[in-house]
Amino acid sequence: MSNDQYSSDTLTDFTPETTEPRRVVVLISGNGSNLQALIDAQSHGELGGEIVAVISNQPNAYGLKRARDAGIDAVVLPHREYESREAFDGALIKVIERHEPDLIVLAGFMRILSPIFVQRFYGRLLNIHPSLLPAYQGLDTHARVLADGAKEHGASVHFVTEELDGGPVVIQAALEITEDDSVETLKNKVHSREHLIYPIAVKWFLEGRLRLGAEGATFDGVPLPPQGMRMSHADAAEELDEDIGEES
Ligand code: GAR
Repeated sequence: MSNDQYSSDTLTDFTPETTEPRRVVVLISGNGSNLQALIDAQSHGELGGEIVAVISNQPNAYGLKRARDAGIDAVVLPHREYESREAFDGALIKVIERHEPDLIVLAGFMRILSPIFVQRFYGRLLNIHPSLLPAYQGLDTHARVLADGAKEHGASVHFVTEELDGGPVVIQAALEITEDDSVETLKNKVHSREHLIYPIAVKWFLEGRLRLGAEGATFDGVPLPPQGMRMSHADAAEELDEDIGEES
């Protein structure tokens, strides 16, 4: 086939026939700043889909207000009203399925998920975690990183599997720890990086570029390395207009 037959203009003008936006359900427990980053990306046409519902297990989560302010269905499902983890997760599955999502995004959803939940949505579940996984799984990551005198920290987006904070990593953003850093400064720096990488990962998934296969996470069909894609400290700092302490 010659180039004349398929000019680049023709390819640029090609529009896929699917018109239904891809559907996203976001699960939260608190502030919802990552949810806000996803809402902002959607409003700039940069999410690759639509957030159709936000579900919180905490009735007073501020993220619920963020959802309502954006005109998104905000659902409260208090876990305390259920007898067991399995009963709560069963109810959660039902609410999620009512919204027919292509992707379920955990954005500060502070619940351990039962195997039945993970299996139901396997390959369609993303989580964000405040560390450079596999380092510092679990809670209180900023304090533990500081206590260890670590040199770097960051955030990771990963597919959810039955291993807590252990599923294949999709993308990470790193930050270099300075002598002045405290739990509070690290928390802020990690959050800003989370807000950069989560919308990117969601978009990749909704565009069909990111998948979870038998061999782990793939991007455009190619297996990702164990740390996923990596945004360096310098690239993230530049993107965020952070002072990286270089002399001018
Ligand atoms: C985020 O830092 C996220 O990484 C963390 O909770 C915070 C939620 O913030 N998640 C976990 O620790 C899960 N293990 P947000 O409510 O402002 O998005």
